[in-house]
Amino acid sequence: MTDMDTIVSLCKRRGFIFQSSEIYGGTGSCWDYGPLGVELKNNVKRAWWRDNVQLRPDMVGLDASILMHPTVWKASGHLDHFTDPMVDCKACQRRFRADKIDEEKWTHYCAATKGNKFDIPAGEACPHCGARRTLCPVCGKGELTDARQFNLMFKTFMGPVEDEAAVTYLRPETAQGIFVNFENILQSMRLKLPFGIAQIGKAFRNEITPGNFTFRTREFEQMEIEYFVMPGTDEEWHQRWIDERFAWYPRYGMRKENIRLREHDQDELAHYAKRTADIEYRFAMGWSELEGVANRTDFDLKQHAKFSGKALEYFDEETKQKVVPYVIEPSAGADRSTLAFLVDAYHQEEVRGEKRVVLKLHPELAPVKIAVLPLLKKNDRIVETAKRLCAEFRKRWYSVYDDTASIGRLYRRQDEVGTPFCVTVDVQTVGDEKSAADEKVTIRDRDTMQQIRVPLEKLDGIMTDLMAGKWAEVAAVADYKIPPRAGSD
Ligand code: GAP
Repeated sequence: MTDMDTIVSLCKRRGFIFQSSEIYGGTGSCWDYGPLGVELKNNVKRAWWRDNVQLRPDMVGLDASILMHPTVWKASGHLDHFTDPMVDCKACQRRFRADKIDEEKWTHYCAATKGNKFDIPAGEACPHCGARRTLCPVCGKGELTDARQFNLMFKTFMGPVEDEAAVTYLRPETAQGIFVNFENILQSMRLKLPFGIAQIGKAFRNEITPGNFTFRTREFEQMEIEYFVMPGTDEEWHQRWIDERFAWYPRYGMRKENIRLREHDQDELAHYAKRTADIEYRFAMGWSELEGVANRTDFDLKQHAKFSGKALEYFDEETKQKVVPYVIEPSAGADRSTLAFLVDAYHQEEVRGEKRVVLKLHPELAPVKIAVLPLLKKNDRIVETAKRLCAEFRKRWYSVYDDTASIGRLYRRQDEVGTPFCVTVDVQTVGDEKSAADEKVTIRDRDTMQQIRVPLEKLDGIMTDLMAGKWAEVAAVADYKIPPRAGSD
């Protein structure tokens, strides 16, 4: 299992994810996606949007604003219920989630060993004196306050006057933007139940204990669906969505053994939920939520109808009656999914006695799809052909040209960022005074490191097949085979 430090270090080294405001010492739990990270995350979001909106006749999209009317949060229950219990250390002033504090290792100054300091694993007693944690787990000295409820919403002020009337909140979930637009969308798009509204956007939570890289942050992106159904059909639709969403991650290469479903216990359910199942990924820190699929019943529409005074109903032509639809909500994190795809793709292998780091990302998700590499950077015809090819590829697949190292090193660099295919232009491609151009290039597959040699004129169709996962079929064509050369990789 790949530990998080390895991923954090790769992400920084190769331009995926950086600490926010790093030159000022960093901002707690905020991260910036670099050139390759933004491509990867955009690809995750694009795949989600295409599969859940564009390929489905029963779905439409939305992009609602982050700042909303403050009453939204009263109606949704977030002002009253979106809280975590927290305690403060009276000595060092650190803040902890009261319900998670015993899951942390703790610092102990042991009287039985003349006050020596020990780090004791979570939940264990001191092996010398048998004491259990009663004080602050970090400084080991301060008493903790009684638990207080702490609202996770970021408060801000709308307009120039910072008074209570102007108070509003950064949205803690994108879902509410969908509920308050239910009537607008229903009428303007003339939709029939069941139908869904999908949205991707930023959400903000003042998490007490953020951490594990981009897993739990204070600013993050959600990919949410609110799927409206006839009351009474909600349980069946809920199960269908759980199955559909659980099947989505392996479709983009996530290993099935690394994901599981976990049913929420009754006492764990959110204030709006009748049943929730989480899709979890096996991170190094343990099984952790990627997505929650909840049956939110008619809670939200009824609440907004009550607080706004507007009816949020659906007219059923069959029964000639108005109903308040039930809602099934698959709610995924774009950052968490991106992180899980990264962790899952990370492999370390040994190739001819050397370490090879390779990100086996699905071609749809890989930030760069093709790297075009000239075998000799001093040969103008090779360079010109390679640059022309790269420009041509870029029209369909994000591609890069690189001539800054030897071919072996260039391959390794591309492996490490997950580029599925490298296309190499060499002397035979363009010809020289001794031999005519063969008008062929070498394609190398990232995962198998196999190589094939294909005619330039067929390249477009071949790359299309390769992007669709047909390496084995293409490589089986006798004309494309090249004998393996020692040390060619
Ligand atoms: N509308 C329902 C809702 O927001 P949630 O389980 O609180 O449900 C949904 O959040 C998803 O949003 C989570 O499964 C996770 O992927 C992502 N998410 C929630 N809090 C997050 C945080 N602090 N950092 C990163 N992602 C987060």
